[in-house]
Amino acid sequence: MNKEQVLEKLKTINYPGFNRDIVSFGMVKDVLIDENEINITINISSQNEEKKKSIISEVKKALEPHYKSVNIKLLNETNPPATSPSPNVPNVIDDVKHIIAIASGKGGVGKSTVAANIACALANKEMQVGLLDLDIYGPSLPIVLGINEQPKMTQDNKLVPLEKFGLKIMSFGFISGNDTPVIWRGPLVSRMTEQFFRDVEWGELDILILDLPPGTGDIQLTLTQKLRMTGAVIVTTPQDIALADVRKGADMFRKVNTPVLGVVENMSGLNINGQTDPNNQNLQINGEKVSIDSDGTFSINLDLFKTGGGKKESERLGVPLLGKIPISEQIMSSTDLGTPITARDSTDGIGGLYTEITNQLLSVIK
Ligand SMILES: Nc1ncnc2c1ncn2[C@@H]1O[C@H](COP(=O)(O)OP(=O)(O)OP(=O)(O)O)[C@@H](O)[C@H]1O
Ligand SMILES: [Mg+2]
Repeated sequence: MNKEQVLEKLKTINYPGFNRDIVSFGMVKDVLIDENEINITINISSQNEEKKKSIISEVKKALEPHYKSVNIKLLNETNPPATSPSPNVPNVIDDVKHIIAIASGKGGVGKSTVAANIACALANKEMQVGLLDLDIYGPSLPIVLGINEQPKMTQDNKLVPLEKFGLKIMSFGFISGNDTPVIWRGPLVSRMTEQFFRDVEWGELDILILDLPPGTGDIQLTLTQKLRMTGAVIVTTPQDIALADVRKGADMFRKVNTPVLGVVENMSGLNINGQTDPNNQNLQINGEKVSIDSDGTFSINLDLFKTGGGKKESERLGVPLLGKIPISEQIMSSTDLGTPITARDSTDGIGGLYTEITNQLLSVIK
């Protein structure tokens, strides 16, 4: 077997507890083949001995039929203790099964929109879903979700999340007021965040989605360290510069031993909806025939950046592309209306795309 074939083989081995393989998690660092001998370097940052053993034995089982000698070198590339959430990081929200952060290298790429739509798509599946907006500088969930209320307090001084679209929602914006620009410094942010995690009465949740502030700096790092997360989703736009940001994001999560579950390419191509005479079957846009429904409506997606960069880069990083969302007028107007598309229609058109992304996400977290 050559190196590619070995990697293909290793791709059949899932990381324990995940529906995702060790290659796509970026754990296989090196493969050296010398005739009948193979030397593999695997980076397992988990401290869990069971998981390590299980991975080693799976790798041996997969390769021993092909090589006389299979040597596995284990790396434990965790980062300085200060930045890695050790297994002793308390899971401050006990009743939450999965915590998933939505992050981006730069601002304005559609993170909050993606977070809100994924959350609604999950709620449509009868799951218990929470959505926590941690964007301290520009909380946008109150706008995206059309919420202008203040949360109530319980008798023991816990914040009660607001409920809308079947979600439990909490945002710094609810507390600081939608119009107040807040400039908090690092330590205060960190303290506020911890308190936020602790002092919200979430109840039982299947999934808590975190809408992180844009960027991959200290603040994001602090936020991601405070909780034991299942993983992160990185939202990006197709341009190259944005893709460099994906890399930064992926690096940041690696530092805190949090798997990047996938990338969402947003504003990828342009979606146009229109209406014409149903008999007009000759409509063409950019030389392509447009199919017209019996009621005269049509919907087309135009590729603006034919780079395929999102896919390539996500493969290189070993992170799956969960899906692509085109630039769409519907998305902009849904923000203005304060109703995510998937809260209205999660099967057709753009809503269907968000649901597809959500399904992909569920398939990696189990
Ligand atoms: N696919 C899309 N098509 C058209 N407009 C979009 C799309 N995705 C997001 N938008 C619009 O772009 C704007 C920014 O989106 P959003 O607030 O979700 O980005 P963000 O990454 O959360 O920004 P920030 O970094 O400021 O938190 C919003 O007005 C939103 O309606
Ligand atoms: Mg946002």
